[in-house]
Amino acid sequence: MTDAPRAFVIGQPIAHTRSPLIHRHWLREYGIAGSYEAVEVAPSGLAAFVEKVRAGAYVGGNVTVPHKEAMFRLMAGGADDTAAAVGAVNTLYRAADGGLAAMNTDIAGFLANLDAGAPGWDRGGGAAVLLGAGGAARGIAYALGTRGVSVHLVNRSRDKAEAIAARLGSGATAHGSDSLPSLLDGASLLVNATSLGMAGKPPLEIDLAPLPRMAVVNDIVYAPLETALLAAARARGNPVVDGLGMLLHQAVPGFAHWFGVTPEVTPALRRVVLADLAEAKR
Ligand code: ATR
Repeated sequence: MTDAPRAFVIGQPIAHTRSPLIHRHWLREYGIAGSYEAVEVAPSGLAAFVEKVRAGAYVGGNVTVPHKEAMFRLMAGGADDTAAAVGAVNTLYRAADGGLAAMNTDIAGFLANLDAGAPGWDRGGGAAVLLGAGGAARGIAYALGTRGVSVHLVNRSRDKAEAIAARLGSGATAHGSDSLPSLLDGASLLVNATSLGMAGKPPLEIDLAPLPRMAVVNDIVYAPLETALLAAARARGNPVVDGLGMLLHQAVPGFAHWFGVTPEVTPALRRVVLADLAEAKR
């Protein structure tokens, strides 16, 4: 008998990650005799942990803060285009040849969330306005490019938006906040990839008046689930997609690689994670 497959999530701190909740839900749902454990790993222990994985202790796992960029450097030889686009790895798995491989599933998660929540969002013909230029925005800008959607990056620090646009090439331009009203006019997608609007952070202040009512509005913030941005967009009739779906969908490719079943993001899974978020708030 072979041992049950074991997967992990590593980070520091690791107590707050919701990944075990998601993967254990799916393990139960599909009746798979596997495990998913949260392991606290300090930056100084990262290389040794990867060696343990290579030696077969796990079938793979997730990588979270603060290790995503360091893992990309450690795994550079085995990282795919998604990891290279973001410069960060969030998932390790065993490739068909048995070697350890790395990817960044935030890109697939972002796209799958929009596909599920606003089918046809990429056929509007207009550009996307992307707020932010951190790690999350980098992946989303790349994701939009893979669908042929041109991107206007708007960020407080314009130089960071310019660096992302330069890497992406002709499909992306960088702007300061003063250009926002004219960029919103004619956009078919607005995404908040800043931390503004997250519980404990300042609100995102934005006047949606110039945005067409057909434009899809997406926030990657999921605590609170209905941010002020989404509430304002919904009130004026725009289709909205919340950020929780991205968290759930980004978990799909890892689970599929580790346990051999492509899991579904269902209302039941959403309820499990929402209940945990509500619990954490109390
Ligand atoms: P992540 O990796 O999650 O994207 P990050 O790299 O810290 O996190 O990026 C946070 C984003 O929110 C950045 O675009 C940041 O703008 P700067 O690049 O100018 O720092 C944006 N952000 C955070 N606080 C902000 C604030 N008070 N006003 C405007 N933008 C803010």
